[in-house]
Amino acid sequence: MGGIARIAAMCLLAVGWRAAMAETPLAVVPINDESIAQMRKQHPLASAEVNDPVYKRKQRYQGFWLRDVLNDLGRGGHPETDVYVRFRCKDGYLPIMPLARAMAGKALIAIRDANAPQGEDWQPLPAGETSSTLAPSYLVWLSPPGETDEYPWPYQMVAIEVVSSSDALAGLNPAGAKSGYDLFATHCLKCHAINGIGGTFGPELNSPCSVTEYWNPRLLSRFIANAGSIRSGSKMPNFNSLPEKDIQLIVEYLHSMAGHKKPDAACS
Ligand code: HEC
Repeated sequence: MGGIARIAAMCLLAVGWRAAMAETPLAVVPINDESIAQMRKQHPLASAEVNDPVYKRKQRYQGFWLRDVLNDLGRGGHPETDVYVRFRCKDGYLPIMPLARAMAGKALIAIRDANAPQGEDWQPLPAGETSSTLAPSYLVWLSPPGETDEYPWPYQMVAIEVVSSSDALAGLNPAGAKSGYDLFATHCLKCHAINGIGGTFGPELNSPCSVTEYWNPRLLSRFIANAGSIRSGSKMPNFNSLPEKDIQLIVEYLHSMAGHKKPDAACS
């Protein structure tokens, strides 16, 4: 997803977020002045230059290596394969990835833009978009470079959470591993919840009514591929790069979830 799409979206939304997932994380690192002061005592401030998808140019940031911060956290005795890391943002954006994937890459939790004006930690976001900044933190990847759904670059990030996927994602895949679920989890869950589990940047898609119950099926697939072709000014990024077959698998997944709502959620 293009960074700019999300900036444009963000400035239109009121800042504010709520806990979207009911289960308790195994560990949480809030990102605020106090925790940053604490981290500065434990880790040297690192610096790195990246090709920034938000500013669309090279940018240098200062912060802490994600790997170091994750190494400080407990795993609650959960097997490595069950442990995921989730990045909570002010606007409800909530990407999640396997801990092993996060540890295999090289990311900096940026807490300062190295070229911020004197006395400040951040520069304003690119001209014309919004007057806000990336504060309090921004996750940037040196390896692999570039923004993909597998390696998200969340900004205005307020917490890093370590979760057990069997807890955090329980109930999202009742029918057993299906490719539609994997696609949904990679591309959609960061913004959308199913039965209250997932990001809150975009609307809940299953409760009490599933989008498959109130959308015309043909327009639903088209909306997912290219929301702007149906709703001008849509804040949803377009997924034109996903093959038609993958969009269909995602729609089938949404369909199947209509049959797995919480007991009290009836679309009547
Ligand atoms: C960056 C956040 C983001 C991502 C990622 C995202 N969406 Fe959305 N989506 C939104 C927002 C915001 C809306 C609200 C309406 C709008 O702006 O058009 C929305 C609206 C929708 C709607 C319409 C809901 C309604 O009731 O009108 C559907 C369906 C939908 N998204 C499905 C998906 C699917 C499937 C994916 C993954 C392929 C996805 N979205 C990925 C942000 C996102």
